[in-house]
Amino acid sequence: MIFQKAHHLKGEVTVPGDKSISHRAVMFGSLAEGTTEVLNFLQGADCLSTIECFRKMGILIENTPERILIHGKGLHGLQKPDGILDAGNSGTTTRLISGILAGQPFETTLTGDSSIRKRPMRRIMEPLSMMGADITSLSNNDCAPLRIKGAPLHGIHYHSKVASAQVKSAILLAGLYADDITKVTEPVVSRDHTEIMLGYFGAQVHTEGTTASICPEPALHGQKVCVPGDISSAAYFIAAGLLVPGAEILIRNVGINPTRDGILKVAQAMGGDITLLNVRRDGEPTADLLVKHSALHGITIEGEIIPTLIDELPIINVMAACAEGTTIIRDAAELKVKESDRIDVMVNSLGAMGCDITGTKDGMIIHGGRPLHGAVIDSHLDHRIAMSFAVAALTADGDTKILGSDAVTISYPNFYTDLSRLMH
Ligand code: S3P
Repeated sequence: MIFQKAHHLKGEVTVPGDKSISHRAVMFGSLAEGTTEVLNFLQGADCLSTIECFRKMGILIENTPERILIHGKGLHGLQKPDGILDAGNSGTTTRLISGILAGQPFETTLTGDSSIRKRPMRRIMEPLSMMGADITSLSNNDCAPLRIKGAPLHGIHYHSKVASAQVKSAILLAGLYADDITKVTEPVVSRDHTEIMLGYFGAQVHTEGTTASICPEPALHGQKVCVPGDISSAAYFIAAGLLVPGAEILIRNVGINPTRDGILKVAQAMGGDITLLNVRRDGEPTADLLVKHSALHGITIEGEIIPTLIDELPIINVMAACAEGTTIIRDAAELKVKESDRIDVMVNSLGAMGCDITGTKDGMIIHGGRPLHGAVIDSHLDHRIAMSFAVAALTADGDTKILGSDAVTISYPNFYTDLSRLMH
């Protein structure tokens, strides 16, 4: 697809449901007794992969445009799937389901697309094995396909080296099937949707500082879940609204959980004019975001804030490229093991558009303020790279051609339509 400079960007947009929360609603609804109703479910390819995995394990899931209904069978109601489970492009599906499969009385093989088959799984294989599960990487490279033989599990206290909600959640979900309390301590707190939603379904989950713990064998009950708009999807409109001269965008119903809202803090610290309207709390906190064009300046982004904006770093790079002065990003080595190596891809592709950007071992240094020009950008089939460059193109002279632009179907199928509506 080809993108050009925007001369007008105004109006309202409602971004689709949160990806992390949508995955969890399907998973926990499947493990609960009774029916779970999910409103504003993200109909993106990743969450559809999660639905298919649970259908293969015998769970009836009705998916309509208005809502999804999950007819859960309780903690011990999953059946051995007929064939391999396919997580597609989804790290969340792969890692969280692994935690659930670790506690099942059957053996499963779990795989995904070529990106998933390169992503590190040792981080979940190690703690789940310590709990008693038998997990093998069938290619012997600590990546999927994984063969998981469930077993009676033991409660452990695991100290994770990475701040990862996927690792934490895999362990907590295995902890549902353990013989004792299970605890996970992270170096820095990662997103806490699992803790919030499992508690809502009836589990005993406690958080103290960077440690989350769960009691085994709860009775989970089906619930109604209203999924807030995904702040990670809103991030592209936040950036576009700040960068395009004269822009003003109202983004409705965005989740602003404090473990996810780093993009708002960083955008405001860079000088961005963002007002939170209509703040409300119903399970997860939400707000409408009013974003106005602003002159941005560079900042340093490091430490505890990193997990709260890890998926937004590609679009934050674009903001930094257009900001005056230097932006330094540290403590973000996790970027290398996302859907693509997001340090390499951002350095090469923003560089190709004229940005002064250098990669480091755990982030990047961007000297902003140089005018960007169009280029041919390969998304590497990474949805967040495709959307970041669609926004970069709005500020660049000439044509920007994005190869693999369809990757947006992973988390935001209507992204280009919603963006172009604001331009007319
Ligand atoms: C996610 C956690 C994060 C994030 C991913 C979704 C989740 O991954 O990058 O897009 O839903 O738990 P890590 O746990 O690997 O940091």
